[in-house]
Amino acid sequence: MNRIQIHQWIVFLFIFFLTPNVVFDAASADHDDHDEKRRYQKRERRHSEDNCKRNVATVNNSTYTEYCGACHFAYQPGLLPSGSWDKILKGLADHFGEAIELDLESMNTIAEYLKAHAADNSSAKLSGKIMKSIGSQTPLRITQVPHIQREHHEIEPQVFEREAIGSFSNCVACHTTAEKGVYDDDAVTIPK
Ligand code: HEC
Ligand code: HEC
Repeated sequence: MNRIQIHQWIVFLFIFFLTPNVVFDAASADHDDHDEKRRYQKRERRHSEDNCKRNVATVNNSTYTEYCGACHFAYQPGLLPSGSWDKILKGLADHFGEAIELDLESMNTIAEYLKAHAADNSSAKLSGKIMKSIGSQTPLRITQVPHIQREHHEIEPQVFEREAIGSFSNCVACHTTAEKGVYDDDAVTIPK
């Protein structure tokens, strides 16, 4: 190579590395990284929402679990409005055919707990949907809430009568994560 050729070669390399292609590639790699990071952050955010916003809060009152979880699953307070819980507690002498007695102290503890975490006082998405669907009504059952009924309208009534289920009220029979307040349809198995 003579001097002029070397010179041309250097100019060629110089132009090659400055071509928009190379610049573009570098930028898009950077962009992918950025996207990946954003996706990751979004996923993380969704996860933390899962724990406090999307699902109803887990039951964390031992008096409530002891008395109200004795015959059936201790339903999360966020599944009914405070007006419903109030009606249920006032009607314990005839609670769906059962007579339930509670000492005054336990009664007050349970009433306070239910009210504080009831659907109308909860920021959980599910509680919001429940409130929106019932308006000012105060149903005695979660299974009478229109939103809850709508979510199950495809299930044949006789399915609930299966031995492993018993009734629609037995959420834990199908919702494997009900105890955690998670009712997502991807954690449901209907027992045969
Ligand atoms: C002695 C047993 C017993 C105890 C204790 C008991 N329950 Fe119940 N509960 C029942 C029965 C029976 C049903 C009706 C279940 C069904 O229809 O399958 C019921 C139903 C319910 C429902 C309606 C479920 C639905 O269908 O949406 C709620 C809410 C409820 N109970 C709340 C409570 C609360 C709050 C307490 C505590 C103060 C409590 N229960 C204690 C027997 C009991
Ligand atoms: C016989 C089984 C069964 C029982 C009992 C049952 N569920 Fe479900 N539930 C399902 C199925 C199946 C779906 C999903 C329906 C679908 O795919 O759209 C569902 C959906 C839901 C959803 C909507 C979930 C979502 O991601 O959109 C909620 C909330 C829910 N159930 C709450 C309850 C509660 C509360 C109880 C008890 C009072 C209950 N379920 C009892 C089977 C059951």
